[in-house]
Amino acid sequence: MKLDWNGRSLEVRESGTGPAIVLVHGYPLDGAMWSSVARNLSDRFRVLKPDLPGRADNPAGSEGSIASYADFIEALVASADSRVGLAGFSMGGYVCLELMKRRPPSVKALALVDTRASADDEGGKANRAAAIATLRAEGVGPIAEAMLPKLLSPDGMKRTDLVERVRRIMLRQTPDTIESDLTAMRDRSDSTDLLAQLALPTLVLTGEHDGISPPEVSRAMAQKIPGARFIEIAGAGHLTPLEQPTAVAQALGDFFGETLI
Ligand code: MLT
Repeated sequence: MKLDWNGRSLEVRESGTGPAIVLVHGYPLDGAMWSSVARNLSDRFRVLKPDLPGRADNPAGSEGSIASYADFIEALVASADSRVGLAGFSMGGYVCLELMKRRPPSVKALALVDTRASADDEGGKANRAAAIATLRAEGVGPIAEAMLPKLLSPDGMKRTDLVERVRRIMLRQTPDTIESDLTAMRDRSDSTDLLAQLALPTLVLTGEHDGISPPEVSRAMAQKIPGARFIEIAGAGHLTPLEQPTAVAQALGDFFGETLI
């Protein structure tokens, strides 16, 4: 679909027909991380997989804040339909939680995928600063290599086609975009207080071996959201939508099928 954003007419990738679902990607990735899940869901849903600001499909510069990413998703959701299912993976989940603080009227169901509500602690902020220093000194390559074993499970790391696909997505991001993401995540606000106020159907999903948003953290987050359901994807690391796309599509399809149709 076309979206007027920041003085540009953007083309947001979409496939399928049916109720609209917006899939928000994580760091240091782009909308392509959802491609396999989107293909699977597009027989029943109209699936939108935007690039957050600073990427190929959305070249406007970014302010480097989760709030500014949420501004973009808010505009997209408002233009997409009057009933939208919203799913955010990791950093995309931070964006979705930020957006939910604004109670967007068209979002009728929310999926939080391998993400968490807490802000970075001091150690986390120091890690972001170290990553920014590496990025400025050596570029995107070392960031991508360091991220791979954090994104994929040990079994996923043995799948050379999968590793290559994830690497390719990371390496096409610009240093400015990666720095914008790191700054945005470092400075994001805590969303824990929001959880009890989420008054819409919510699914929390995470990979069994996710080391960034571990199952115990995700389960605790789900317990704070009234009526939320929790699903753990067996055998997957952090990047469940690329490592186990069929299981993730099944979980999202069942959830959005029940809540949107
Ligand atoms: C992501 O997968 O989006 C990020 O790794 C999340 C984070 O670093 O907090």
